[in-house]
Amino acid sequence: EKGGFEHFMMKEIHEQPKAYRDTMRGRVNAEGNRVILSELNLTEEQIKNITNIQIVACGTAYHAGLVGRNMIEGLVRIPVENDIASEYRYRSPIVSPSTLVIVVSQSGETADTLAALREGHAGGAHVLAITNVVGSSIAREADSVLVTQAGPEIAVASTKAYTSQVIAFALLALYLAEVRGTQSEEQVKAILDAMNELPEQVEEVLAQKEAIKLYAESIAEHDHLFFLGRGVDWAVAQEGSLKLKEISYIHSEAYAAGELKHGTLALIEEGIPVIALATQESVLEKTISNIKEVKARGADVLAITDEAHVNDVLKSVDQAFVIPKTLPLLTPALSVVVTQLLAYYASLALQHDVDKPRNLAKSVTVE
Ligand code: F6R
Repeated sequence: EKGGFEHFMMKEIHEQPKAYRDTMRGRVNAEGNRVILSELNLTEEQIKNITNIQIVACGTAYHAGLVGRNMIEGLVRIPVENDIASEYRYRSPIVSPSTLVIVVSQSGETADTLAALREGHAGGAHVLAITNVVGSSIAREADSVLVTQAGPEIAVASTKAYTSQVIAFALLALYLAEVRGTQSEEQVKAILDAMNELPEQVEEVLAQKEAIKLYAESIAEHDHLFFLGRGVDWAVAQEGSLKLKEISYIHSEAYAAGELKHGTLALIEEGIPVIALATQESVLEKTISNIKEVKARGADVLAITDEAHVNDVLKSVDQAFVIPKTLPLLTPALSVVVTQLLAYYASLALQHDVDKPRNLAKSVTVE
């Protein structure tokens, strides 16, 4: 049942190339320059009239939504807000019939996310669900359902569901961009071409697992660490930090790199591990200067960067893991895999129950 792996989590990490392909299958035209989302029950007119988007979810699904926001705002230029479902439902969100509410849920059963969906309906919005479970409560109540084809996820810590949500968001952003005319066919094709390369590129990340294991064993001796990043790298930092806490019980914080000096830098001391996500060309210099700030205070810095930037980054860090080159908006689909492996091996080194971390349930059907 675990396909030769010791844990479901590791099996599911390795299923990501397939999950990417399955989530894209049937949703791209033969020429590879258009996305077809026939499951969206929105007319072109309705799509053109969307004034704002609210992406609502919990935990890892919320983190996928942060990546989704970057894609939608970047490609479609519609304003997007991200909300944690348990906050959204009680903050009297401002929803109108021209709002598109997107709820994201692997299980489709999360109580707060379901309540957020109903909140969206109460405001007259169209609610689109991105979920992994076809017959789930959220799928049944939503107006449109975009199914992630990740297959069943058994490990409590979500891996392939998150990355499939990222792929689903990319498809959705491309589709909205076509309808609203914000990206040309050539631009759409370039992104789809890059998405088609992701499955093999994930394999390249997986091939580095022995090195990642060694690093994970070194952080397992620490009580605290930091993840840093800017833009989507910050989104991945948040997901990496959650995964590490969840299964290794090592405390970590994810910080927007530029925000450190507004207080948290006081916590950086000799020998503290800092994991810096540095894949975004547009802010790379800024991230490197933040890395230098923590280095100067004695931090041990690991960078997660890409082939194009590793030479620059290596001048300022102790060690780096390198992801293959892809488009800036797609890096989360690769960089997060490094953080999944890190969390897995740290949990293993500390002899925790990787698939069933303490105090947690796979599906949170109570608020
Ligand atoms: C963390 C994790 C949780 C879930 C969250 C939402 O690894 O799995 O944070 O992402 O409980 O669950 P779904 O997506 O089922 O709504």
